[in-house]
Amino acid sequence: MKILVINGPNLNMLGIREPDIYGRQTYQDLIDLVKSAADRLGAEAAFFQSNHEGDLVDAIQEAYGCFDGIVINPAAYTHTSVALLDALKAVGIPTVEVHISDVREREDFRQISYVRSACIGTVMGEGFDGYVKAMEMLIEHGKRRNEA
Ligand code: DQA
Repeated sequence: MKILVINGPNLNMLGIREPDIYGRQTYQDLIDLVKSAADRLGAEAAFFQSNHEGDLVDAIQEAYGCFDGIVINPAAYTHTSVALLDALKAVGIPTVEVHISDVREREDFRQISYVRSACIGTVMGEGFDGYVKAMEMLIEHGKRRNEA
């Protein structure tokens, strides 16, 4: 199974950015963790990060026909982007939404997720491990689809 892990704006600043909320580990640490989990799970993970909404839309579109699953942390665009929702719906690739922090416990403006309705599930508040859980959900989903 080929999984594309997409991270939105400011997630390249992990480790520096609000460590009380996001921890002290870096974006590279996240990649290393997800890569080794993917190996263990027998999946293949590729990574894309951008601070630009249109580039994220392009990455989702380019995943069509190339990836079996998407793990996406759209970061702030979660709460604003109809374009990301439409892109995920357009490609129809099974997708899991991830948030490092528990957005349910945060500001009101973080309570809306535009992408959620295009996702098979959401993981939040589990730190970097949430990305691993999201991959496991995609693998399970893939197995169920193959059995059906
Ligand atoms: C985030 C939560 C978002 O509200 C925020 O804008 C982010 C990161 C998270 O991973 O917890 O940038 O998606």
